[in-house]
Amino acid sequence: MRFSNFSVAGIVLLAASASLAQTPSYANVGRTPTKEEIQAWDIGVGPDGKGLPAGQGTAKEGAPIFAAKCAACHGAAGQGGGIGPRVVGGKADLETLTTVRPVRSVGGYWPYATTVWDFINRAMPRGQSGTLTPNEVYAVTAFILAKSAIIREDDVLDAKTLPKVEMPNRNGFVPAKFADIPDEKKRGCKQGVCP
Ligand code: HEC
Repeated sequence: MRFSNFSVAGIVLLAASASLAQTPSYANVGRTPTKEEIQAWDIGVGPDGKGLPAGQGTAKEGAPIFAAKCAACHGAAGQGGGIGPRVVGGKADLETLTTVRPVRSVGGYWPYATTVWDFINRAMPRGQSGTLTPNEVYAVTAFILAKSAIIREDDVLDAKTLPKVEMPNRNGFVPAKFADIPDEKKRGCKQGVCP
């Protein structure tokens, strides 16, 4: 052997001290983001409507926006057919949820109307997300909900009224918080197995 244990240990030591010496200091890197920068990222809207911005819209106002910016992918009446899924559908779909072919449409499946707003605002139109104004998002949300027979054509959606829209499948999910899960017996659980 040409290399002694000693020199191998020496190499390891050298490597260790070299990496220690190179540990960068982040003291002068970056800066605290401004309030505006945090706000631009902080777009989440809770089920209770927390985080919804000012603005408003009706289904009537949403119709031309949907036709121009959504219909190519979701169909003129929101029935799907392009590369986008069906977005219109309500109570009738609710009844499919317990069958072998559940239709999980926005109106028949989603528990909160505020999530419809949040999803469209953060993700649609696909490939151009972030381009809609709050008024436009309120309006197309109203369009989808009115076509799904959940609200009326002239109902005004805003930060106050949207959280009050009761979706048909509002109570179809297990509550989000463990503390909210009702008594297992009441849920029909038998010997630890729940439906
Ligand atoms: C370029 C095609 C395209 C355009 C334009 C588009 N979407 Fe979508 N949309 C999709 C696709 C694809 C999905 C499926 C989820 C995904 O892949 O992001 C989707 C999903 C959705 C969903 C959720 C459906 C579900 O049940 O999961 C909603 C609501 C929606 N879009 C609304 C809109 C609205 C409102 C507009 C117009 C402002 C719009 N979309 C424009 C392609 C599009």
